[in-house]
Amino acid sequence: MTTLVLRGIGELCTCDPRRGPPPGVVRNAAVLAEDGIVTFAGPEAGLPRIAAGEVTDEIDCAGAAVIPGFVDAHTHLVWLGDRSGDYAARAAGATYEGIAASGGGIASTARATSGGTEEELVAAARQRARAMLAQGTTTVEVKSGYGLGHDAEMRMLDAARALQVDPDMPDVVTTYMPLHARSAEPAYIDDVCTRGVAAAEPRARFVDAFCERGAYSVAECQRLFVAAAAHGLRVKVHAEQRSRSGGARLAARVGAVSADHLEHASDSDLRALAAAGVNCVILPGAALMLGGPPPPGRRALDAGARLAVATDCNPGTCYSESMPLMLSLSVALAGLTPAEALVAATAGGAHALEMRDRGAISEGRRCDLVVLNSRAWIDVAYHLGGDVVRDVVLGGRLVRGR
Ligand code: NIG
Ligand code: FE
Repeated sequence: MTTLVLRGIGELCTCDPRRGPPPGVVRNAAVLAEDGIVTFAGPEAGLPRIAAGEVTDEIDCAGAAVIPGFVDAHTHLVWLGDRSGDYAARAAGATYEGIAASGGGIASTARATSGGTEEELVAAARQRARAMLAQGTTTVEVKSGYGLGHDAEMRMLDAARALQVDPDMPDVVTTYMPLHARSAEPAYIDDVCTRGVAAAEPRARFVDAFCERGAYSVAECQRLFVAAAAHGLRVKVHAEQRSRSGGARLAARVGAVSADHLEHASDSDLRALAAAGVNCVILPGAALMLGGPPPPGRRALDAGARLAVATDCNPGTCYSESMPLMLSLSVALAGLTPAEALVAATAGGAHALEMRDRGAISEGRRCDLVVLNSRAWIDVAYHLGGDVVRDVVLGGRLVRGR
């Protein structure tokens, strides 16, 4: 048995609603984990007595704040190639849609990514996943979507799965996203809905599609979701990102796990998502980088929806691995309080991935947590772009200390 003890926690943000108002703070706290599972989280005075020989590892937090590891529930981590040219072109006045229409955008990343070997994809993704872990992300969802053809899509999923078995990486959850940039191949959707979903079944937990003008229609996305559901894949939707295209209503209709982006969603769309129990995932980095309406964090909460915040880490709309930055942006752009942002980035992310064993620091959950470089948890959002992470504990194991 491995036993980890954290003592001297000034503010323990449990993100457990049973601990009072968000983020469920316990002061002068300690955490005990056995074989990677939290067995005690509470006031240090109540820490069970442990014989010295039983402790495998001990962290003295020296008054620092501790929060749950981030659950980044929406990323496109696996890609090759470079889109800095798109970024510069947009800064000079080009639009995301204009770049895509002239063969750039997602299609250009797909050309570079589909030509890569699995080893090249793994190496590129590993570097980004390592940067995520260093910034406190302990679980990351990874989508395919730059393959735009059967073999390359499966290669992307296999590359993500190679990280899944690496104990020094955040825990990886995979999503099959065959409908991203529009394919020029007329039979592409037929192929995806037959061979694609069958081959994705053992490789992915979720399916996703870009429901948008110039990408895929509501009917095309729905066709994919029905085919994927027959293979046990749970549904996520890129919805209402660039225009109000119907993705949110589709998500509500098919009982999706999450609808993501949602900048153009109306209040009634958000209420429909809330009523259907669909998690709303905001991606404030992409919203900031592309311009347009703000991410609807406040509006989603007011509609009664459950909310997650994620990076969307990708080469086109948000090249960032940083969840702390997303917290800051959620407060600045999406109208969330810092506490709401922290809960959305942890417990909210876990809900958006249907993972009930993480996202909060409480008995029986995985011991995934972050010791901050600060005594005040709020600094994780307040210190914009700051070096806020001191230590990361992944499944009860210290993976980054200083
Ligand atoms: O979530 N909206 C579509 N997909 C990504 C962008 C991917 C890209 O531009 O490469 C997103 O923003
Ligand atoms: Fe995305």
